[in-house]
Amino acid sequence: MSAPNLAPIPELFVSYDSAAKLKHEAGELVSWDLTARQVCDLELLMNGGFHPLKGFLTEADYDGVVKDMRLADGTLWPMPINLDVSEAFAEKVEPGQDIALRDAEGVILGIMSVTDKWVPNKSVEAELVFGADDIAHPAVNYLHHKAGSVYLGGPITGIQQPVHYDFKSRRNTPNELRAFFRKLGWRKIVAFQTRNPLHRAHQELTFRAAREAEANLLIHPVVGMTKPGDIDHFTRVRCYEAVLDQYPASTTTLSLLNLAMRMGGPREAVWHGLIRRNHGCTHMIVGRDHAGPGKNSEGKDFYGPYDAQDLFRKYEAEIGIQMVDFKQMVYVQERAQYEPRDEVEEGATILDISGTELRRRLREGLDIPDWFSFPAVVEELRRSKPPRAEQGFTVFFTGFSGSGKSTIGNALMVKLMEMGGRPVTLLDGDLVRKHLSSELGFSKEHRDINIRRIGYVASEITKNGGIAICAPIAPYLATRAAVREMVESYGAFLEVHVATSIEECERRDRKGLYKLAREGKIKEFTGISDPYEEPKDPEVRLETEMNDIDYCAQQVILKLENMGLIRG
Ligand code: PPS
Repeated sequence: MSAPNLAPIPELFVSYDSAAKLKHEAGELVSWDLTARQVCDLELLMNGGFHPLKGFLTEADYDGVVKDMRLADGTLWPMPINLDVSEAFAEKVEPGQDIALRDAEGVILGIMSVTDKWVPNKSVEAELVFGADDIAHPAVNYLHHKAGSVYLGGPITGIQQPVHYDFKSRRNTPNELRAFFRKLGWRKIVAFQTRNPLHRAHQELTFRAAREAEANLLIHPVVGMTKPGDIDHFTRVRCYEAVLDQYPASTTTLSLLNLAMRMGGPREAVWHGLIRRNHGCTHMIVGRDHAGPGKNSEGKDFYGPYDAQDLFRKYEAEIGIQMVDFKQMVYVQERAQYEPRDEVEEGATILDISGTELRRRLREGLDIPDWFSFPAVVEELRRSKPPRAEQGFTVFFTGFSGSGKSTIGNALMVKLMEMGGRPVTLLDGDLVRKHLSSELGFSKEHRDINIRRIGYVASEITKNGGIAICAPIAPYLATRAAVREMVESYGAFLEVHVATSIEECERRDRKGLYKLAREGKIKEFTGISDPYEEPKDPEVRLETEMNDIDYCAQQVILKLENMGLIRG
């Protein structure tokens, strides 16, 4: 007989034959294209990771979960799992109707029998579930700015798992893990939840936790959605793999969890406990500030550092998993080893490198000592986050037609190519209009589409380590801000305002367009019959009227150097 935690857990999938039949029939149903977060939720609903949920929450379950962490039947469940949809879609669906749930490629993953449809009070949800209606909290921001305004609830019939192409052998359903533990004779398993690379302190802590509980260890990192700005899961998984051989053989395993975290602190810890129980674990490590979202809009922590441990302890019996509370491990220089902080005597030298300091050192290519991390982990991190001077970036010129954007952009390109090291692309206004936007005119709408296209290409170039120099007019503040946001998720963005006055541009009138604009032969001409919103705080402002091109390009080079983007 196997231990109760290792017996198979119910899934929502139907048999292979029924799935094939349903898939065919579902062609007739109204389809909902799942968001990335909903795909994660659906995967764990269907494979038993969210047991005992049988589908997206109904209104009664949702109300109970939001108010006191309980489903309508009284079962503990701390996190609302909803199918949020747009109003337009909700109008097409009535309770009693089946809908097909599809992934981004249109593959049907499941069928939902809709029983409930309602408009939630998102502010109440934010207050009660996350502790504050403050968009500095990533889940609250998601709730107000990304989630649809109508919720649908009802049971799911599972057709197939979402497809993953990466790290396939490291992904396990709850039943696969349970079977693995059964096969290896593991009865006691401590889970370690993480969204960060493992450094020496984590390795020591997890190893000690397992040793103290006389249990095996499951490193169970989240690879679905974590906190915005986290290190991508591809890099992290390679880091975890590099650390695995630091543990005694046959005591530890690594499995990836396709969970979409909410960063909900205490409630999230309870939720993580239930998920780990479903995956066959008997213990879970809960650390300081578990699943913490960072600071609120007043600069204060959303939750107390041990709130998660307190709430977990309160519900431990109901969760069905034992908490191993995190002993903060610190490096004691005198003894050259990690020890629990509460056991280190007064006066000993404790060394530490904070997350912010680690990011700074990576960014600037500085030393990361061996006592802090494993060389293989540091190498992986450096590979995926090279120092700034090796990362891609975008220089975005904006200004009137004829202000000198293209000429200075071209000079800058040549100077950067002379330096070498990174590929450089010039996305000049005229060239973009010819090759990417030939069907567009100069209305606000068309200009915005044009600039967003440039922003997209620049962000791709930046992501892949190149330098994009853009030189459109880009007359609108909001559109430029949107491009900045697109690029900054991958690298630096430098806005350069070529501040040549409209009078000077008109005087130069190199292309003869100003004359035509004055004569009314060209409509919506920027600066003459169309607006130009000046950048408020560009990284560089160039006065071209009293300076030559070379000097202007050099100003940009100096700024790039000052930002650490180029170095000798
Ligand atoms: S925008 O607003 O950023 O989309 O404009 P952009 O694509 O940079 O414009 C490129 C060139 O189009 C010429 N042109 C006009 N400019 C402004 N307003 C109107 N109505 C217009 N019609 C044609 C102009 O020469 C721009 O060239 P640059 O390179 O800026 O001198």
